[in-house]
Amino acid sequence: AAPIAIVSAMHEELAAVLDLLPDERKVVVAGREFWQGHLHGHEVVAVLARIGKVAAATTAAVLAERFEVGRVVFTGVAGGLGPGVQVGDVVVASEFLQHDMDASPIFPRHEVPLYGRSRFAADADLAAALCEAARSALPQARVHRGLVVSGDRFVSTTAEARVLQAELPDALAVEMEGAAFAQVCHDFGLPFAAVRTISDRADDAAHGDFLEFIRTVASPHSAAIVETLLRNLP
Ligand code: ADE
Repeated sequence: AAPIAIVSAMHEELAAVLDLLPDERKVVVAGREFWQGHLHGHEVVAVLARIGKVAAATTAAVLAERFEVGRVVFTGVAGGLGPGVQVGDVVVASEFLQHDMDASPIFPRHEVPLYGRSRFAADADLAAALCEAARSALPQARVHRGLVVSGDRFVSTTAEARVLQAELPDALAVEMEGAAFAQVCHDFGLPFAAVRTISDRADDAAHGDFLEFIRTVASPHSAAIVETLLRNLP
C-alpha cells in the first residue's frame, strides 16, 4: 500500500507524533525533513509543512510526486470561529476554503480561479476515521465537523474574527494551511483530511492563548489522535 502522510505546520504539533515512529529515516527535500517510518503496520511519511498556504502547497506536491503517498492527514491547531467552538475542542474538516482568495470582480469572491469553486471537500472516509479517532483518543473534548477556512494571516483581533464570521457564517475554524493542502491533493487525486485542536478564538486574546496552547497541549493532542487513527485504519 502507498504510505500515509502525516503533516503539521509547526514542530510543536508534530514532535510527539515523531516520537511514536520507532524506525524513522530522514530525507530532506525542498528544505523540509521528511521522516519515513512505520506506525501500527502502516508505512508513514511525517513532515513539517511550515506555516502558510505556499509552504503547505510545496509540501503537498512533494508528498504526492516524490513520496507517492496514498493519503494525507493534517494535524495541528486552529482558531475557533463558529459559535460554541471553544479552546480545547476538536474540529475535523468536512471542507476547506481560502478566506483570503479574492479575484473579484473577475471571479466570485473566494472562488479559486479556473477551478469553478471556492470549496474543496475532505475525503469523507478519512474524515470519518479522524472524527472517530478524535472521539476515542480525547473523550473529554467536543468534536465538531464542518468548514475550515485558511489564509495567510494569523487572525488575532476580535474585529477580524467578526468579519470572517459574517462573511463565512458556517466556518468553524481558521488556520493557515488546510485549504492549500486540499487544493493540491484535489489536483493529484489524493484523499486528504485534517483535524485541528482549537488553540484560541482568533480574537484579541488569540496571540497569548495560541502560544500557551502550542507549548502545552498541541503535541500530545496530535499524537493521541494520530496514534488512534493509524491503529484503526485498514
Ligand atoms: N492557528 C491557530 N490559531 C490561529 C489563528 N487565530 N489564525 C490563524 N491560524 C491559527
